[in-house]
Amino acid sequence: GASYKTSAWRSDVLNRLQSKYGSLYRRDNVILSGTHTHSGPAGYFQYTTFVIASEGFSNRTFEYMVNGIVKSIEIAHTNMKPGKIFINKGNVDGAQINRSPTSYLRNPQSERSRYSSNTDKEMLLLKMVDLNGDDLGLISWFAVHPVSMNNSNHLVNSDNMGYASYLFEQEKNKGYLPGQGPYVAAFASSNLGDVSPNTLGPSCINTGESCDNANSTCPIGGPSMCIAMGPGQDMLNSTQIIGRIIYEKAKELYASASQEVTGPLASAHQWVNMTDVTVWLNSTHTAKTCKPALGYSFAAGTIDGFGSLNFTQGTTVADPFWDGLRDQILGKPSEEIKECQKPKPILLHTGELSKPHPWHPDIVDVQIITLGFLAIAAIPGEFTTMSGRRFRESVREEFAAYGMPNMTVVVSGLCNVYTHYITTYEEYQAQRYEAASTIYGPHTLSAYIQLFKVLAKAIATNTVANLSTGPEPPFFKQLMTTLIPNIVDRAPVGKHFGDVLQPVNPTYRMGEVVEVVFVGANPKNSAENVTHQTFLTVEKYEATSATWQIVHNDASWETRFYWHKGLLGYSNATIQWHIPDSAQPGIYRIRYFGHSRSQDLFQPAVILSFESTSSTFEVVTAL
Ligand SMILES: *[C@@H]1O[C@H](CO)[C@@H](O)[C@H](O)[C@H]1NC(C)=O
Ligand SMILES: *[C@@H]1O[C@H](CO)[C@@H](O)[C@H](O)[C@H]1NC(C)=O
Ligand SMILES: *[C@@H]1O[C@H](CO)[C@@H](O)[C@H](O)[C@H]1NC(C)=O
Ligand SMILES: *[C@@H]1O[C@H](CO)[C@@H](O)[C@H](O)[C@H]1NC(C)=O
Ligand SMILES: *[C@@H]1O[C@H](CO)[C@@H](O)[C@H](O)[C@H]1NC(C)=O
Ligand SMILES: *[C@@H]1O[C@H](CO)[C@@H](O)[C@H](O)[C@H]1NC(C)=O
Ligand SMILES: *[C@@H]1O[C@H](CO)[C@@H](O)[C@H](O)[C@H]1NC(C)=O
Ligand SMILES: *[C@@H]1O[C@H](CO)[C@@H](O)[C@H](O)[C@H]1NC(C)=O
Ligand SMILES: *[C@@H]1O[C@H](CO)[C@@H](O)[C@H](O)[C@H]1NC(C)=O
Ligand SMILES: *[C@@H]1O[C@H](CO)[C@@H](O)[C@H](O)[C@H]1NC(C)=O
Repeated sequence: GASYKTSAWRSDVLNRLQSKYGSLYRRDNVILSGTHTHSGPAGYFQYTTFVIASEGFSNRTFEYMVNGIVKSIEIAHTNMKPGKIFINKGNVDGAQINRSPTSYLRNPQSERSRYSSNTDKEMLLLKMVDLNGDDLGLISWFAVHPVSMNNSNHLVNSDNMGYASYLFEQEKNKGYLPGQGPYVAAFASSNLGDVSPNTLGPSCINTGESCDNANSTCPIGGPSMCIAMGPGQDMLNSTQIIGRIIYEKAKELYASASQEVTGPLASAHQWVNMTDVTVWLNSTHTAKTCKPALGYSFAAGTIDGFGSLNFTQGTTVADPFWDGLRDQILGKPSEEIKECQKPKPILLHTGELSKPHPWHPDIVDVQIITLGFLAIAAIPGEFTTMSGRRFRESVREEFAAYGMPNMTVVVSGLCNVYTHYITTYEEYQAQRYEAASTIYGPHTLSAYIQLFKVLAKAIATNTVANLSTGPEPPFFKQLMTTLIPNIVDRAPVGKHFGDVLQPVNPTYRMGEVVEVVFVGANPKNSAENVTHQTFLTVEKYEATSATWQIVHNDASWETRFYWHKGLLGYSNATIQWHIPDSAQPGIYRIRYFGHSRSQDLFQPAVILSFESTSSTFEVVTAL
């Protein structure tokens, strides 16, 4: 329908909910919370910076995400029943490090001395049960970047938080395949802006020495040699280790959660023009937020993934070469934006770029939902550790000042719209990656604190109805779509889609990897046609019933689906099964499910499904 034309996923979800449920689900009581990952599809944001970074806007990805979100809400709505919520908190050890510790040290000593760590270790967990005490689900918040998988990964997969969720759901949904079953375990993000899961810390991959310095750079080779890894031997192993630590803590907190969350439900939401907020520094002085801009160190990337142009974190002086190039291609930034963003040297003055559409949002969502003493603050970006601490404290004080003492304030990160990072004013001065990515300038955090205090006060004084809606965000039509054309899929002469090119072996031992290669077709075709399906199954033969039982799908950690694209529409699909030690010996097979695109001259494209099965093979116990 017309829905994709608006191409703003939050409003699209809300429009679809409104047409189905009327005013039950609204802009003030629905929060869309994302996860930071390098392991997912891109192309669903409408602002130009993200469209470029995703190599074009993808209707397909956009529609698929919106449909999936709406479908999830519909399932939740249908299964809704009375229940209870219990809260618990506890520290997670060994799962994070601060990736900009020198920026953190810019915060006042008096403030830092109140905390024992330069990351927030606390996980907050809500356990949900029905009136019989039977499990329904959980939502937890913890501050760590889900980037154990680095940006060389091209699989769509869970990162550490997703792996924790996977483990929890597998345990509660016994007998179901991953992604299925009634129990939902959500692991949401908090103030993870400067928090890395790569716990061995940064070191120079060429010389082995530490590069835990203010510029994250190596003596030989510069910043692109300075990479943080660990704790495992490779990124998949690290994802599992960090994910398991998070899961274990959640399991413990879930089991012992006893404090019930009771009290009224309230919600407050506003749209605000973040480029134009006047911040009160004290009773006499004000400052302003800025039009968005990205600094030089944005292009440096981080120890979790360096940039491609050899920029260095901590850069506070512009380079005439890059400034000149930018001026020629995009035009000069105004004196106003340069002054406002200081000491950030501006690489991209996104707030002054509007072709073909604005490069960054002016209008963002600020939102709080409270349930009794719990306040969930939906932050449209990634707060650093100290930003989150200042924010929680201020909002809590504001609730207390208006008659709601002892509120537990949760920073729920990456909600509703994406605006990169938010550092403290002091961290901003160091201009590492997070500060260079604090797009609304040095007073961004103070502005958010002020704006969320307005919401807190409105909830506490029961005057939410008096809040202005604020300026509605724009919707852009005709977004730049991906330059990669949809071409027809082809099978080699004499072969069909799904034919086996490289067969399985007759026998495997546990711990080995089964691999089979099929004549493939573009997996994107499948996204358009089916939801809640799988590209593959691993099936075991049950002699007693003479049937094949599905033991794994493409969401199983043990399986991998690689698509190897050739020229002119030819491609291969390689399916692997990394046989776990827990596998049952027996007879197995692997199946592949695909969709091929074909098109006759002057006819619309047709997408046809196909499926294929490997030969059977035997799995025997390891020696
Ligand atoms: C993407 O959207 C455009 C209109 O903006 C439409 O013409 C086109 O068919 C859409 N493509 C897909 C693959 O949905
Ligand atoms: C990047 O810059 C560093 C100096 O900071 C230099 O040593 C290194 O060779 C450069 N790397 C590339 C790929 O240009
Ligand atoms: C990603 O991790 C792998 C180990 O799994 C490592 O070999 C590779 O160098 C890393 N790449 C980057 C860009 O960090
Ligand atoms: C990670 O690798 C180590 C060494 O091979 C292994 O002992 C450990 O079980 C692996 N961890 C996970 C979670 O797979
Ligand atoms: C946000 O505020 C600025 C400054 O007042 C204004 O120029 C801009 O048009 C506003 N943005 C939107 C989308 O209304
Ligand atoms: C208010 O803040 C400004 C700017 O930081 C400072 O110069 C001034 O002394 C402060 N005034 C008071 C009363 O604290
Ligand atoms: C390294 O970081 C320091 C401290 O932030 C900064 O003063 C210096 O200019 C940076 N050096 C480079 C080469 O960017
Ligand atoms: C707030 O919490 C403190 C400590 O947990 C407790 O002593 C106090 O009674 C609480 N106040 C209210 C109003 O709940
Ligand atoms: C809120 O709005 C109502 C109805 O318009 C009005 O009576 C009331 O005075 C307002 N309250 C505040 C605090 O502005
Ligand atoms: C597909 O597999 C065949 C047979 O193994 C091989 O010859 C061909 O190069 C592969 N094509 C791609 C695109 O990987």
